[in-house]
Amino acid sequence: MKIALFDTKSYDKSHFEEANKDFGFDIIYLEPALNERTAILARGADVVCPFVNCTVNKAVIDTLKAEGVKLIALRSAGYNNTDYRYALSQGIPVVRVPAYSPHAVAEHSFALLLALVRKLTHAYVRTREFNFSLSGLVGIDLFGKTMGIVGTGKIGRAAIDIAKGFGMKVLAYDPYPREIEGVEYTDLDTLLSASDVVSLYCPLTKDNKHLIGRKTLSDMKDSAYLINTSRGGLIDSEALLEALKERKIAGAALDVYEEEAGIFYTDQSDTGIEDDTLARLISMPNVIITSHQGYLTKEALMAISNTTLNNIKEFADGKELTNQVK
Ligand code: NAI
Repeated sequence: MKIALFDTKSYDKSHFEEANKDFGFDIIYLEPALNERTAILARGADVVCPFVNCTVNKAVIDTLKAEGVKLIALRSAGYNNTDYRYALSQGIPVVRVPAYSPHAVAEHSFALLLALVRKLTHAYVRTREFNFSLSGLVGIDLFGKTMGIVGTGKIGRAAIDIAKGFGMKVLAYDPYPREIEGVEYTDLDTLLSASDVVSLYCPLTKDNKHLIGRKTLSDMKDSAYLINTSRGGLIDSEALLEALKERKIAGAALDVYEEEAGIFYTDQSDTGIEDDTLARLISMPNVIITSHQGYLTKEALMAISNTTLNNIKEFADGKELTNQVK
């Protein structure tokens, strides 16, 4: 099996090389993302392996088919960028990595939360300049505070365990509640008005775009912090900026941003960015932004590589595809 791995970063290559010791596939590492202009690069490959910012639409699938591609092996959980129904109609199944490490994302959300409430980014910059003053660095305890968890799937549940470890009270909202010890399910309004920290762990769907907007932000406590490691579109960024400027909430930490495509995962330090909302958010002292790196741990990258190559092996062996998108 010859595999064309699109949108390759150095950390993808090193983890796929490690995992491939057990599989022995022929992997071609390509830097460009897969799209209509780059699909031709798949020539000679049996399998293409796209990531989240690739576009796998009908035109791309037509080119892939013409070039002899037989399988699309997504190395992500999400498949909103792939017309999997059309691919299947053309005889090309699509497989994905349904879960890699919920702990990676849950732990990153707490890294962001702690950095935010203990002002670590400010402290770090100060001590690097030999400024050891503590003025303006007063934080809050997490112990005894109320954590509002929106979405209690795999990542949300990992976050609940961490919150309990900090001695926080946990409120949760999910359209499909589960029995979880020590967790009180409420409606979203109650969760927003009662929580000291609101953290999002639900998928972005056609029904919950801007779940956090002007109205929902005004329901939150003025002293509350908002954390988003899920999808940028869950938050109306303009409304968030306004709420922060008006001190309607105490701060925000975001690993995702609704207009992140084309910005995140790229180095724009030479040119700056054109997105004024993002630039203004980044400039605020009570905002921390990371570049969609919640999943970026060794464990998660190894799990992504192993599952992707195992998905391809199942296909090569003619077995049932465990992780096929149907
Ligand atoms: P999951 O499918 O295990 O759980 C999602 C939960 O959200 C489910 O319990 C579902 O009922 C609930 N839900 C759906 N709509 C909701 C709504 N409107 N309000 C509240 N809850 C709702 O998914 P998992 O693995 O926990 O991932 C959650 C999200 O995390 C993913 O959809 C993805 O957007 C994001 N993610 C972010 C990563 C990062 O690097 N920052 C990496 C991986 C996932």
